[in-house]
Amino acid sequence: MSDIKAQIAEKGTLALGQITAAAELAQLEQIRVSVLGKKGSLSEALKSLGQVPPEERPVLGALANEWKSKIEAALETKKTALEVLAIEASLEKTKLDVTIPSRKPHVGSLHPITTTVRAISKVLGRIGFDVTVGPEIETDFLNFEAVNIPKDHPARDMQDTFFIGPGVVLRSQTSPVQMREMRNQSWPVRILSPGAVYRCDSDATHSPMFHQIEGLWVDRKVSMSDLKGVLDFFAKEMFGTETKIRLRPSYFPFVEPGAEVDVSCMLCGGKNHQCPICKGTGWLEILGAGMVHPRLFELAGYRPDEVTGFAFGMGIERIAMLLHGIPDMRFLFQGDLRFLKQFGVQR
Ligand code: PHE
Repeated sequence: MSDIKAQIAEKGTLALGQITAAAELAQLEQIRVSVLGKKGSLSEALKSLGQVPPEERPVLGALANEWKSKIEAALETKKTALEVLAIEASLEKTKLDVTIPSRKPHVGSLHPITTTVRAISKVLGRIGFDVTVGPEIETDFLNFEAVNIPKDHPARDMQDTFFIGPGVVLRSQTSPVQMREMRNQSWPVRILSPGAVYRCDSDATHSPMFHQIEGLWVDRKVSMSDLKGVLDFFAKEMFGTETKIRLRPSYFPFVEPGAEVDVSCMLCGGKNHQCPICKGTGWLEILGAGMVHPRLFELAGYRPDEVTGFAFGMGIERIAMLLHGIPDMRFLFQGDLRFLKQFGVQR
């Protein structure tokens, strides 16, 4: 009996030593199997109990179970210790520097054309202009005839038009929206209409697709001085309170009288003879304007002896370029993120 006792104690002590020495979880598992597994050393020792006299079995059995629990406890303790070590080692390996700045998500920004339309609409919105839009595919009638440009009128040549079907064009200006709006509602009318327009033209300062914004104010007794007042307010709000405007007589078939409108150069104020934007003239042409031609009122079903009005139209690219100092119009259409990112996130 003492033989088996010694054997059990020896195997148990050996196992405890191995457990203490184990350096990895896998090793610990191997030890568990080799001691407590079906064919493990302790299990084998227990099997040999069959050969001892029955009265000795309970004592030996109890001893074996004691060792078994001791070993199980040692395995468990060691396992926890090794797991902690493993976590610590992996933390050490993958050292996280929480002070490194995180990668920023890509946030889009509004295109300068959009922000310019919004800026113009905001300024003129304050004096009662509402934004409305018209279609980019327009009838020849509304794009031309209804705004007083009949079929053989030379003004058609000024707007190299894309004809996309009989009597259908890509609008070459936003002026047809004037007529759409007047036909849609009775006066007073005070609208702004931004949007894309198309002309068959392409170089550093022209793009086959560009944007205009049209303004129209029709009411009783609207005068040329109202037009000047509105444009003066607009120029000062957009380009700075020092800005002046200048009207030069000009011709557009849908207005009479018509004018081209300049603003004083916001870069040099006319003081630099080599100014890159005004070329030393001190003035920058920004829009066309005039008093609505009575013929348009007739076509809209308004009475020309009852109402008057003014209209103006400007290129949005030109305004955006002046506001941001953009040297080439093509930058606005190339979709180059290095350019677009400079305008920040504005919503
Ligand atoms: N539609 C004109 C153009 O494209 C601009 C304009 C609008 C002029 C309204 C006068 C009045 O050139």
